[in-house]
Amino acid sequence: KSGNEEIVIGFSQCTGNDLWRKAMHDDMYRELSFYDNARLIIKDAEDNNTKQIQHIKEFIQADVDILIVSPNEAGPVTPYIEQAYNAGIPLIITDRKSNSNLYTAYIGADNFEIGKAAAEYALQSFVQDSVKILEIWGLSGSTPAIDRHRGFIEGLAGNDAFEIVATINGEWQYEKAHASLGTAIDTLDIDLIFAHNDQMGKAAHEILLEKKRRKEVSIYGVDGLPGSGGGLEMVTEGVLDATFLYPTGGDDAIRLAMDILKGRPVAKDHRLLTTAIHSDNVRTLKLQADKILSQQQSIMRQQKLIAEQHSLYKSQRIILYMVSGG
Ligand code: FRU
Repeated sequence: KSGNEEIVIGFSQCTGNDLWRKAMHDDMYRELSFYDNARLIIKDAEDNNTKQIQHIKEFIQADVDILIVSPNEAGPVTPYIEQAYNAGIPLIITDRKSNSNLYTAYIGADNFEIGKAAAEYALQSFVQDSVKILEIWGLSGSTPAIDRHRGFIEGLAGNDAFEIVATINGEWQYEKAHASLGTAIDTLDIDLIFAHNDQMGKAAHEILLEKKRRKEVSIYGVDGLPGSGGGLEMVTEGVLDATFLYPTGGDDAIRLAMDILKGRPVAKDHRLLTTAIHSDNVRTLKLQADKILSQQQSIMRQQKLIAEQHSLYKSQRIILYMVSGG
């Protein structure tokens, strides 16, 4: 596109109503505000494959300049993602993957490494010779759940003391994890819970507290969001014993989109950094994250002020135009 023509970025988001996705959207809009003439349209599939397929079709129909997709479940959504790519729309896949190589770029942290890091942290934290583990899965058709599980298994391999004795499907959701664990807990003899995200870890914490069993069991999550209700706070408050950072990459995705649209050469795979967060380092990490968060919030406030000034200026120009009899 040349000159002042508006750039439209479509984002087909698998789900939108949780802290992590909200942080992702904030990160995207903040980055977007640095560019003139770029618009972001987010369509939230609310955990529903059919809805997401519909959204992707709509974005193809609208011929957006670039499409970002976080596929709810890889299997059902992949053919439609391929359709978008084959229609010539530059395509960024983020967070959850599809089952296809047809994309321009992928951006996200390595979920296999996250699962492995969780296992390694368990290996160094437990001394007893039997560690019984409950794994609380994210949505089983979504790639981060599959990869976190595989990495976890790989990390435990060869250590007979560690055994996954039970599995629960929390589908990434606090409510689902809370309900399933609530019914299963009394029959479970466990030492460690590996929850595929912090929200499901929080559900586990609450159930164990209710049963007065919280002290017997360690809980690990994934995400490590800053801010109120996020994983850093949960580790600080002992809701989680550890979490593994899973950056949203929202700002990076927008930057990548703009680079692609400007015709700059980009790598196909962009791996975001992850790290283990636990009682030994959470204080430092939280201080840093809080600082960044407050700077980001101030950037957003300033952008809002600029936008208000801009629209005031525009309406004043119209009034000026009218009174000067133009
Ligand atoms: C948010 C979320 C995160 C998780 C990611 C996996 O919707 O469930 O908690 O890390 O999605 O795609």
